[in-house]
Amino acid sequence: MSIPEEFIQDLKNRIDIVSLVGSYVTLKRAGRNMLGLCPFHNEKTPSFVVSKDRNTFHCFGCGVGGDAITFVRRIENLDYVDAIRFLAQREGLEVPESGRNDGLSALRNRIYEANREAARFYHKYLYSPNGSKALAYLRNRGLTEKTIVHFGLGYSPPSRFELVNYLKEKGFSYTELIQANLANESQRGSPYDRFSDRVMFPIMDLRGNVIAFGGRIMSDIKPKYLNTSDTPAFNKSRNLYALQFAKNKTTDGQLILVEGYMDVIALHQAGFENTIATLGTSLTIEQANIIAKYGKEVIICYDADNAGQNASARAIEILRKTGIKIKVLTVPDGKDPDEFIKAHGENGAARFRLLIEKCGNDIEYQIAKLQLQYDLEQTDQKVAFLTETAKIFARLDNAIERDAYVTKLSEELNIDKNAILAQIRQYARQNSENVQKQRERQWKQQSFVGQERVNPEKKHRLRAANAEEALLAILMTHPDAAQSLCQKLPASMFLTSFHRRVYEVICRRAEQGLGTELSDIAGDFSVDEVSVIHQMAFKRPRETDPFRAADEYIRVLEEEGERMTPEQVAQSDMQTLMEQLQKMKEKKK
Ligand code: CTP
Ligand code: MN
Repeated sequence: MSIPEEFIQDLKNRIDIVSLVGSYVTLKRAGRNMLGLCPFHNEKTPSFVVSKDRNTFHCFGCGVGGDAITFVRRIENLDYVDAIRFLAQREGLEVPESGRNDGLSALRNRIYEANREAARFYHKYLYSPNGSKALAYLRNRGLTEKTIVHFGLGYSPPSRFELVNYLKEKGFSYTELIQANLANESQRGSPYDRFSDRVMFPIMDLRGNVIAFGGRIMSDIKPKYLNTSDTPAFNKSRNLYALQFAKNKTTDGQLILVEGYMDVIALHQAGFENTIATLGTSLTIEQANIIAKYGKEVIICYDADNAGQNASARAIEILRKTGIKIKVLTVPDGKDPDEFIKAHGENGAARFRLLIEKCGNDIEYQIAKLQLQYDLEQTDQKVAFLTETAKIFARLDNAIERDAYVTKLSEELNIDKNAILAQIRQYARQNSENVQKQRERQWKQQSFVGQERVNPEKKHRLRAANAEEALLAILMTHPDAAQSLCQKLPASMFLTSFHRRVYEVICRRAEQGLGTELSDIAGDFSVDEVSVIHQMAFKRPRETDPFRAADEYIRVLEEEGERMTPEQVAQSDMQTLMEQLQKMKEKKK
């Protein structure tokens, strides 16, 4: 690692974990701790705890946990070194660089550079004589010169080697181009351009790095769009197209969410620069959190077709969890936003503005959609309709909001308001029971799966693994114990290799007189591993006499070390059998 230890220590001392986490999650005081909704899994009742005393966070729902740096690694999708840079910037500190770079962030930087060169190359190629067909295509779709430049649009050559050759000239290795997903590897092991004969849409992150591309074919060949797969520098579920522009253009905190690249570009060109899109997948909770971070209200404006409407329903569900205000705009005549703008020519922008002004919120949208399915003149259909609406209202947590809708509906349909409210209460109760059950299931699954992946040997050596965890907890929470224990206990006493690794990291630091708390060692482990280590450190009460307790656990490890594993037992059975056979043979002679 390249950042000096003293700097990291200084940084850690400055960070207030409550205000750090609080800038992502709404936290409320709960006794000595702070409590909020976990940003790492979907939940309706808070189980995410931040402890100021310990400087840690922990979710009782999904089991994630760790120190401030681990929190940033997880939520910003950064590696350890970049998380430190991120936090340093937040604290206004200059990171002392020692020239060397950590492996992953170095690779990521190379990918950004390769992508930037590729974007330039595609853009130039669009304006070369070979690009005239693509340029005509974009102009024909109504894009102005300014728009094409603003979005850095380009064209990828039909031959399959031009970009690869160009970037090789520029000093990029084949491995880098494949890691960047700019090239594919042929069966003979040589790389060739991933994108060919497509109009190219570069995708950028908020810092302006080119992280990926979308490429549209200009004919009916499938797939219509080809996108960069996930790379070390790109995760499609954590980024949004054009957010780098839109984040500074939210009018009254409003963001418009559409399905496609072309919808974004057409709307920006028409003056709606607060438009963003997901990247060829349905909206994820991570994207919803990002939207809620930059906006106060989101207008979902998906395609009018069935797929688009189903996607809207899912997006509403996910966005509601973030607490952001939601509106839903349905473009008339089955058009997508790009087609709508284009179809109305000069009036496109004004017409779209009208649609925005009259679009309803998510509940109104859902009710209106339901209303189309029933004939409200007939009593039985009216009852069925009310039953379904009650289900929708039951999902509202806000009683005042609920009451307002019910009042309106009861007047419209001439039905007793209290009857509807009673129905809703029943569904709400059911909902919360289901949510509770679901959470329990999720918890069991996730905490088990997490442990299982991180330490797969544990289930075969349960007694030993438990003693190891208890010992490691002592080492992490009693720094004075760490130094002397590390001297007397060889790493080979640890029977599961994950715990052995944790032990070795702790000892290496203890020998140098460095700290051995969770936050000191977290940088050597993945965020999932940190969650598991965090659980070992804090799920048991602090030992009153750590040295005596440690002796007890060491004794368990000695016992367990002599005990054979099931495989060893099987193997030794086999050995005995062979020996007996050998003896019988000898007797016969
Ligand atoms: N998409 C994709 N892969 C496909 C089809 C679509 O990744 N094979 C993604 C793209 O991000 C696209 C979005 O889904 O922008 C919406 O798809 P679609 O509605 O089919 O395309 P449009 O945006 O309408 O594209 P166009 O107007 O160019 O036909
Ligand atoms: Mn379209």
